Amino acid sequence: MTLISVLKKKNNTTLFTTPSHDGKLCILHKFYQWYRSDISEIDALEPDKALYAAEVKAAKLYGTQITKFLTNGSTSGIIAAVLACCKPNDKILIWDNAHPCHKNGAILAGAKTIEYTLPYNNEWGVYENLTAEMAEKLFKEYLPKAIIITSPSYEGITADIKNISKVCEEYGVLLIVDEAHGALYPFSNNLPESAIHYADFTVQSLHKTAGGINPTALLHTKTHFDISKTLNMINTTSPSYPMLATIEANLNYLNSSKGKHKIETLILQINDIKNSLKNIKFFGDDPTKILMKKEGLSGYELSELLFKKFKIEDERTNEKSTMLLTGLGTDKAKLDRLKKVLLKIDKS
Ligand SMILES: Cc1ncc(COP(=O)(O)O)c(C=O)c1O
Repeated sequence: MTLISVLKKKNNTTLFTTPSHDGKLCILHKFYQWYRSDISEIDALEPDKALYAAEVKAAKLYGTQITKFLTNGSTSGIIAAVLACCKPNDKILIWDNAHPCHKNGAILAGAKTIEYTLPYNNEWGVYENLTAEMAEKLFKEYLPKAIIITSPSYEGITADIKNISKVCEEYGVLLIVDEAHGALYPFSNNLPESAIHYADFTVQSLHKTAGGINPTALLHTKTHFDISKTLNMINTTSPSYPMLATIEANLNYLNSSKGKHKIETLILQINDIKNSLKNIKFFGDDPTKILMKKEGLSGYELSELLFKKFKIEDERTNEKSTMLLTGLGTDKAKLDRLKKVLLKIDKS
């Protein structure tokens, strides 16, 4: 029985349990179905068993030891992973420019954070990522218990996770990869390789690029870590089964021929845009991120031009470049319009 089918089933028992809306008191009518599916884990339908089965199926799909569904974003996955790796006073290496959840995880674990810096790419105004040589140097100097690497970065710059994982093994360092922006990677050979088979823990936000609703995410482990224990420390004891069911449906879609075709079409269309421009240049390892700049314009000027003249809003901009984020929901019409606009800017 899948989580989705459990929520579709009519429950004939009379519930004197949470939630108090009883599946009927629909305060916001548009979401009636949501209220109906918002059941408790002690419900006779046993959604906890269906969730367990869905997570086991997901682990098979990804080829991981454990895959957990998260309804509090990659934030909760990173914190749970740090808590699983570090005891008080253990040393953990974190990037000095990382998402705040990296440091917060270390604070909650009582671990000692050692911040590493990454080389800055002056031409594009973005950070480069970690190499195996850089990781080895850090390990020799600090002898840490764990390291967290953000790969890809917000702008789509990836680290050499495969070779870094070998260095981690050599030095006995646990590897946590923040792949929040890389949830599509396991589903296409035309995207960078996912960290899921190399890192001890990999965390992915489904809501960022993979079409999931906010803030659905996944936590994968390569080996058999008792990750439930630390997830239980930070998670609610009243899970949202409708949200969890969207994760199940999301993975079914990503793994379907329709979903895979959508990803390949997205990549092809973006590559077509990039190849049709002469004066706008692109950078980065992730084809779904449109990190661009034009000679004669700063990143901020390009961003302003896109917004004021063409009503196109970017995801992130710096002095040198601007970045548009795309994902599973980015349709052909939107990319066709972007191509037209960029062709105009390219010629101006
Ligand atoms: C690199 C990175 N890691 C982690 C997170 C946190 O992800 P979530 O919003 O899924 O909790 C973000 C969110 O912006 C992020 O950009």
